[in-house]
Formats: sequence, C-alpha cells, structure tokens
Amino acid sequence: MARFVEYFEDDRCLYLVTEFVDGCTLKHFVQRAFALMQSGQLERETYDGAVRLIMYQLMRTVSCLHSVYHCCHLDITMENIMIYDADFEFVGDDSTMQIVGDIKAKLIDFGVAEIFDSPLNTPKPFDSRCVKTSSLWTHQSPEAQDDVYDAASCDMWSLGLILLHITVGTDNEFNGLHSFDVDSGHYAAHHGTLCAYLQRTGLMNLFERASLSLLLGLLQTEPSQRFSAKDAERHIWFKRLFEASSEQRKRTTNRWLDTKSRAVFPYYHM
Ligand SMILES: Nc1ncnc2c1ncn2[C@@H]1O[C@H](COP(=O)(O)OP(=O)(O)O)[C@@H](O)[C@H]1O
Ligand SMILES: [Mg+2]
Repeated sequence: MARFVEYFEDDRCLYLVTEFVDGCTLKHFVQRAFALMQSGQLERETYDGAVRLIMYQLMRTVSCLHSVYHCCHLDITMENIMIYDADFEFVGDDSTMQIVGDIKAKLIDFGVAEIFDSPLNTPKPFDSRCVKTSSLWTHQSPEAQDDVYDAASCDMWSLGLILLHITVGTDNEFNGLHSFDVDSGHYAAHHGTLCAYLQRTGLMNLFERASLSLLLGLLQTEPSQRFSAKDAERHIWFKRLFEASSEQRKRTTNRWLDTKSRAVFPYYHM
C-alpha cells in the first residue's frame, strides 16, 4: 500500500499525505492491455500472467491491512489501485508485446478507511462490524445496504469485483457490469446468479477453473461464507506465487540472520 507520509487539517478538510506512486491506475492499465489485445499486439496469456500477479499482491496487501493493522479500506476500486514498474514493450524480435518490469500494485486512497481497535488490544480475528455511512456504491457488497455490516468482508467483495473487471475488461459497457439493471453483472452477483450470467454473456471462457473458484469465493453473497483475505492469499490459483514468495522470504531471513551473526561476532568476543 502507498506509504503514509503525513497528516494535517485546516478549518475545512483533513489531509492524508502518502507517497507518490509513479505509475497508472489499474483501470488505465486494463484499458491499455485490452486495446493492445484487440489490435493483436498483446497475447491473452501474457495478460493473464499479469492479472494473477496483480491479484496476488492485492490479496497480500489486504490480508496485511486486515490482520496486522486491523484496518479496512472500504473503497477498493480500479481507480484506487496503482500499477507501477510495468510497461508494454516489444522485446527482441517478438511480433507481440511483453509486459516488462516486476508489475507491482499498490492500494491508494484511504479516505474512507477505518481502523477497528488497536491490534494489540483485540483478539484475532478482529471485530470489523461497522455502521453504514453512505449510500450503496456499485463496488460494495449486498450486505453493505444493511445498517450494520462487516467491513472486512465488504473489502473481499470489492476484490471479487476487481477480479471480474480485470478479467473481462472495463470498457465493454454492453455486458452491463456497471449498472444495477436486472440484466447486469452486478445484479447477478448480488442475487447469486453470477455463473449463469457469465455463461449467458460468453465471459465464462475468460476464466480458468482456479480463477473462477476464487471469483465465486469472493463474490459469495453470504458474508460469513465469503473468503477472508487469508483464504484468498492461499488460494490454489496463487500456489506457485505463494511458494515462490515464501522461498524468497526464507532466503531474505537467512541472509539477514547471516549478516546479523557476522555483525554481532566481534561484540560477542569482547
Ligand atoms: N499516492 C498516489 N500516487 C499516484 N497517484 C495517485 C496517488 N493518490 C491518488 N492518485 C491519483 O489521483 C486519483 C484520485 O485520488 P484519490 O486519492 O483516489 O481521491 P478520490 O477521493 O478523489 O478518489 C487516483 O485515482 C490516482 O489517479
Ligand atoms: Mg479514489
């Protein structure tokens, strides 16, 4: 997530200053990728690899936000995620483009985020019941219409919508993902008929079996059965990435222990 820099206020506003992320919003990234795929310059397989990486980072970020900071973002949208270190380029003699760079994602805009108790004082999992503060936005979960709802589950629903939009594209208004009409994707998701909707619109083909299982676990209308950030982070779709990152964590820890033991050596002998 974007690093916190400072906070101040004047008579009218509260200001939350964070680091500047030098990249583009996820919405812009997806629009560019779909334009390139439509013109045949980018292969779907290349894009799908990036999608998986971005979703994995988002799951880890939200998992850390929930379990370490006991904070819920409550406004996870395509415009509130920045993508950086990712460029579309022709590499070597390839006739199609590659996405070069590490492809990193950061969460921004903590304007309506809420912290639920100090992590030190509350048992885990934390109690993130919150009271409705605004009208329902299209990216919010069905239960967000209730007077009291669980903010952590609401974040997970938003991540489900992100996975949906990033997989099917954001500009194809015809598929009705942006409205609440009875024919729309949002309506179907809110009424537990998402699979039928994806079949009907031909969008089902864009999902692998594992990414579909993650999608349905996130867009589960019953909040108590919805995936938590921890469940999602360890989902089978991310298995390879999860193993690679634990391996890397182990190597970093070993390196750190190594330098630490060398660093303390002279003092130990004093
Ligand atoms: N830390 C940041 N680094 C780079 N761009 C940012 C950052 N924060 C916001 N932006 C850009 O400004 C836009 C609006 O900022 P945001 O904090 O989301 O405000 P709003 O409450 O209006 O949604 C974002 O969609 C993004 O394009
Ligand atoms: Mg915003």
